[in-house]
Amino acid sequence: MDKKKIIIAIDGHSSCGKSTMAKDLAKTIGYAYIDSGAMYRAITLYSLENKLFHGNELDSDGLKKELKNIHVSFRFNPEAGRSETYLNGRNVEKEIRSMEVADKVSIIAAIGFIREEMVCQQQAMGKEKGIVMDGRDVGTVVFPDSELKIFVTASPEIRAQRRLDELKVKGEEASFEEVLNNLKTRDYIDSTRKDGPLKQADDALVLDNSHLTIEEQNKKLLDWYRARV
Ligand code: DC
Repeated sequence: MDKKKIIIAIDGHSSCGKSTMAKDLAKTIGYAYIDSGAMYRAITLYSLENKLFHGNELDSDGLKKELKNIHVSFRFNPEAGRSETYLNGRNVEKEIRSMEVADKVSIIAAIGFIREEMVCQQQAMGKEKGIVMDGRDVGTVVFPDSELKIFVTASPEIRAQRRLDELKVKGEEASFEEVLNNLKTRDYIDSTRKDGPLKQADDALVLDNSHLTIEEQNKKLLDWYRARV
């Protein structure tokens, strides 16, 4: 008998490995994986490239006018074995992970009309169920009725080290302090914004992975998934 398809919402702080675990889980159970943060990152990249940022000031009227020209989508890359982010048909998977984008993305993610549009697109992606989506407001705003909600966290220092290792692999230079500060600032902005703040859903299962291996964490998730279906 076919197992019923559900929606799995994985929310939590930045750099606590949400996307790795969400991707692994989706692959194991044959679900689609959607990285909702990549959508906010792609809009940030568009805003930077189109000179809508003046320092930390964003021309939000300009962005509102441009919104109809911004199309973010995901395509599966069989070679890489993962889905990649496209901005207006261009593969931006690498560019959206830069420090420059990371520095500005919280500003974009705090804008009401952007969140409204993104939430609408994300809900459409979950219509058929059978998806794992990670982000900040997936279990609270995008899919408040999702069958399995997970809230992931880890200490800021551990998260900063993980992000630093990731940047190093990509050949990007950054200091531990710089990464830690960027992360704490984003935590603060993400948790205190008016629209869709980062918040643990009442019915979410909490996963603190500060001291878990990837294998231990994957097993936990799979157990939770099996218990739900
Ligand atoms: O998960 P991430 O670090 O790629 O997310 C990038 C930014 O987008 C981060 O500042 C939080 C924000 N975000 C959000 O506000 N809502 C989501 N559902 C996902 C990400």
